[in-house]
Amino acid sequence: MTIIDEIPLARPVLGEAEEQAVLDVLRSGQLSLGPRVPAFEQAFAAVVGARHASAVSSGTSGLHLGLRAVGVGEGDEVVTSPFSFVASANAVLYERARPVFADIDPVTLNLDPAAAAAAITERTRALLPVHIFGYPADVPALEAHGLPIVEDACEALGAAHADGVPVGGRGHPAAFGFYANKQLTTGEGGMLVMGSAEHKKQVDSERNQGRAPDMGWLDHDRLGFNYRLSDVACAIGLAQLERLDDMLAARTRVAGWYRQALAGLARDRGLELPCEDRGGDRRGWFVFVVQLPAGTDRDGTIRALRELGVQSKPYLPAIHLMSFYRELYGHRPGEFPVAEDVADRSVALPFFPGLTQGQVGRVAEALERVLA
Ligand SMILES: Cc1ncc(COP(=O)(O)O)c(C=O)c1O
Repeated sequence: MTIIDEIPLARPVLGEAEEQAVLDVLRSGQLSLGPRVPAFEQAFAAVVGARHASAVSSGTSGLHLGLRAVGVGEGDEVVTSPFSFVASANAVLYERARPVFADIDPVTLNLDPAAAAAAITERTRALLPVHIFGYPADVPALEAHGLPIVEDACEALGAAHADGVPVGGRGHPAAFGFYANKQLTTGEGGMLVMGSAEHKKQVDSERNQGRAPDMGWLDHDRLGFNYRLSDVACAIGLAQLERLDDMLAARTRVAGWYRQALAGLARDRGLELPCEDRGGDRRGWFVFVVQLPAGTDRDGTIRALRELGVQSKPYLPAIHLMSFYRELYGHRPGEFPVAEDVADRSVALPFFPGLTQGQVGRVAEALERVLA
């Protein structure tokens, strides 16, 4: 049976502004290394209160260049969260450094500062907190160690720390991602923001095959990559920035509807909802992930939701238990019990700005039926 009105997991907000922006670039004839790149960088930096920004081809390439900027190299250790999309750990491996995982806080699902502190050794070269599901990681606590910090802010556009500083505005290199399910999309793409002009110089060179800005054509003075973002993508990004406040407000509204609609399941059946903002922190809503009550058949729940016309998915699996990481480092279940428990029970529900209150109600009803 085909379900024609299946509620999807995510759907970007795109309209005439984006269409016009793309047409303008096509008609200009300058599809790459053109004026939209610095325009998008400057506008984005202003939104998150960063001094500098470099547009890059993905959130992952932003993380990679951020790690290189703070000097992570072969044999170094980088303390990070096992409860993340695999890219945050992979970026460490690109430099032949080792991601050293530390367990997460059971409420915010972000790196637990005490666990991170315990994982630091003389080989630790940097800390890589992930603002998971858009909830700000406790970067201020991590700053106490005096180590370089690279932030994975791929899911956290619109988030802010308790002291009012937006995520990405603390001066550390912080990578944002613009894949199609993100708060702002360019299809594929990313932005590395940072406080240091030296870092910006290095990142701009390394995203462009190691070319120094003051050098002649095709003169490359260091190893680099092709991590550029095209003018077409930057033009879409600029159009998306114009509607960012509305898109973020819509996500917050949808999250509020979910809280209401799922309050009964949370109260009566032990369904766990994303934590409320605490102590002045502000989440930048990216996904609505619930944790099923212990002992629930998660895969069966996802299948049953699908039959009721609701897309959902396990989100996220713990990185250290993925086969590649197990084989590489010999990780085993039980090493990071909080992350493993959360990873086993998490389900992402449909979540995007255009989701209606009626659809949220349908998702909640379906979940109620399935969990009954
Ligand atoms: C937490 C996290 N880190 C890194 C990434 C990587 O971003 P991208 O897919 O743009 O490379 C993503 C996005 O998928 C993410 O959610």
